[in-house]
Amino acid sequence: MDLDDIATRLDVPFEDVDRVHRLAGEQPSTPVPARANAPALLDRLAAKPDDAAEIMAGWPDSDSTQWTPELRWLLDRSIALVRADLGGHEWLPPGPALPRERGPAWRHLYVYTYLAMVDMARGYHRDHGVSDAVSWATLADLGRNLAIDRRMNRQGWSVMQSWLTLHSRGALYELGRLQHHRGGTAIDLHIPDSGPLTPAAVEASLDEARVFFPRHFPDEHYTSFACGSWLLDPQLGEYLPEESNIVRFQRRFELEPYQEPAGLDADVEVVRFVFRSLTTPLNQLPRHTALQRAVVDHLRAGRHWQWRRGRFPM
Ligand SMILES: CC(C)(COP(=O)(O)OP(=O)(O)OC[C@H]1O[C@@H](n2cnc3c(N)ncnc32)[C@H](O)[C@@H]1OP(=O)(O)O)[C@@H](O)C(=O)NCCC(=O)NCCS
Repeated sequence: MDLDDIATRLDVPFEDVDRVHRLAGEQPSTPVPARANAPALLDRLAAKPDDAAEIMAGWPDSDSTQWTPELRWLLDRSIALVRADLGGHEWLPPGPALPRERGPAWRHLYVYTYLAMVDMARGYHRDHGVSDAVSWATLADLGRNLAIDRRMNRQGWSVMQSWLTLHSRGALYELGRLQHHRGGTAIDLHIPDSGPLTPAAVEASLDEARVFFPRHFPDEHYTSFACGSWLLDPQLGEYLPEESNIVRFQRRFELEPYQEPAGLDADVEVVRFVFRSLTTPLNQLPRHTALQRAVVDHLRAGRHWQWRRGRFPM
């Protein structure tokens, strides 16, 4: 089977298959864990029962008829592609977005990539002296993202499949309330969907990072924390009270001048994070919280949200 055939059978552009082929190069893959160990592993990775059941139903056993040669090729090469960049910290799509409605193997192919990479990531963590607790807390973002994708009627995955390669490559660590992402001279902060963003929880997480990175990555030199998010849009201050967690989080940062980010529509991102739906018409979105009302009223007034970047010294 050549790359052209693979692309046709996967129903994805040739360029995407060619990219996987090139980036994976001659790298070896690494096997998906044994089926017998999968339920316990999925539980550790916080997969909810309905997601775990689907993942088990699509398991890439060697005799599974769901796993056609082109799917097996993509799984093998996407694992190799991620593995080849172990320790890297850029966003990295593990492969093309697939027609996920074709069944569990298609839907969860990059979950199997993630599961195959767990041992590699754990090894990388151990080499850097990262504790088991931080290592598993970090990797358990899989379950959180699967649950969000389900809530979003599967509209969330195209972003998540790249996002999750950060965890697999040792680029990102969940330290208490925040996720901390290595790279350059700033630790990039990410805010998981895990309850209120209280100032005390943020401060504790920052304190943890101030010790964590010099200890576990002594060759990297970080001088600031940075963040790129809809949460840093100063327009939110027109709607939310001064003492809200979001406004208090904003006050930590010095913002960079506004530049519309390439390839990202801030209005879509705000709706993603506040409503977890990308297709509900504005006038049918819920209005339960101050933020929900703000997001809809702002857009209905013909205004736009901003994706802002900011930083503060470490
Ligand atoms: C970031 C986050 C934890 C902040 O939540 P918080 O600590 O409750 O924030 P605030 O105290 O500032 O909330 C102010 C108001 O907005 C509401 N609100 C905040 N985040 C909300 C969200 N994601 N969806 C709906 N309403 C939200 C609160 O309920 C509150 O309204 P109320 O007073 O009517 O109850 C929350 O928005 C969240 O989980 N977001 C998803 C993850 C995310 O966006 N990450 C950043 C990606 S770039």
